[in-house]
Amino acid sequence: MDQDQAGEPRAFSKASDGPKAFQGDVRTYRALSTVKAAWWSANKALGRAVTRRDEGEVEVPAFTAPPPPSGVVREAWLEAFRKEARDVAAGLYPVDEGAADDHPLRAVRRAADVLADARRVSARRKRGGATEAREHADSPAYPTYYRQNFHFQSGGWFTADSARRYEAQVESLFSGAAGPMRRRALALLARAWRERDQRGLRIADVACGSGAFLRDLTTAFPRAEIGGVDLSHAYLCEARRRAGTGVIQASAERLPFADASLDAVTCIYLFHELPPKVRPRVAAELARVLKPGGLLAFADSLQTVDEPRVGRLIEAFPAFFHEPYYASYQTTDLDALFGKAGLEAVDRDAAFLTKAVLFRRG
Ligand SMILES: C[S@@+](CC[C@H](N)C(=O)[O-])C[C@H]1O[C@@H](n2cnc3c(N)ncnc32)[C@H](O)[C@@H]1O
Repeated sequence: MDQDQAGEPRAFSKASDGPKAFQGDVRTYRALSTVKAAWWSANKALGRAVTRRDEGEVEVPAFTAPPPPSGVVREAWLEAFRKEARDVAAGLYPVDEGAADDHPLRAVRRAADVLADARRVSARRKRGGATEAREHADSPAYPTYYRQNFHFQSGGWFTADSARRYEAQVESLFSGAAGPMRRRALALLARAWRERDQRGLRIADVACGSGAFLRDLTTAFPRAEIGGVDLSHAYLCEARRRAGTGVIQASAERLPFADASLDAVTCIYLFHELPPKVRPRVAAELARVLKPGGLLAFADSLQTVDEPRVGRLIEAFPAFFHEPYYASYQTTDLDALFGKAGLEAVDRDAAFLTKAVLFRRG
């Protein structure tokens, strides 16, 4: 268990002692995101080349959705960067893109590590090795649904290597668009709080993983009190390093916060990894800790109903990346799910393969 879990207040800290924010103008943003997009696109292409031989041997179900019309995927990917550039130009939030890997050599090492691991991931995909992570699960407290190699990744959520590698894997998967996609949730929150004094605001990023969005939050709201929550000790260590905030090891099903104690909760890419029975529990828990009028900034995978033209990609995702609950996520009515918990959708956005919804507690 993580040290910071001792008491609720230690989960929060101000960003002033955290990462130095890169307050880029839109030209700098464009230049950096172009480099990043090119870098991760090349990494993805190399990864595919390295594992191409294995791909033919993976059993995939017959897809029902047609392939996306020509140019649709590329245009949606580019639009994610354009959208963010517009928000940066409008001063909605600053972006810390330059500092994600701090040093070019470190970025090279990370990319090389992702490539080296791609073979292991691919081998696991071929043999259906979706529960090997159990050998690393060091506590009986982890729920069974959690003890899996989501995405077939080495170590599941349980090892320091997996935590260090995760962000680069996600960036490679989405060709550098992971940050802009996640930050649709940030844009919604920043718009809602545009005129608001940030001092004293308390925000928890639930299922913060290795801390990329936590860092985005601290960059955007440097005066707020911000903390991360996750079940994974290894990922929390990485999140603390990356974002410089307090972190707390806990389940989203039982958050260690008092009723109505937070101004905002953010939750990025958790719900597609939860079994259907668990989703309402977590939704209720997120609502419970919010103050009346408090905001949930949610982001997760696009659902086919949002953009049927990318239905084939959505169908293919769980076939290539172990995602046992993704199909049920696809058919979940999110507004109804959170509505039952007392949260009303007040704003929404989407970018590339991610949707974001802002919910307000009544
Ligand atoms: C796909 S990752 C997303 C991480 C992060 N939000 C991001 O955007 O990169 C899912 C995260 O949810 C965490 N998680 C899964 N089930 C959880 C639960 N019941 N309670 C808390 N965290 C959970 C995992 O440990 C992992 O860090």
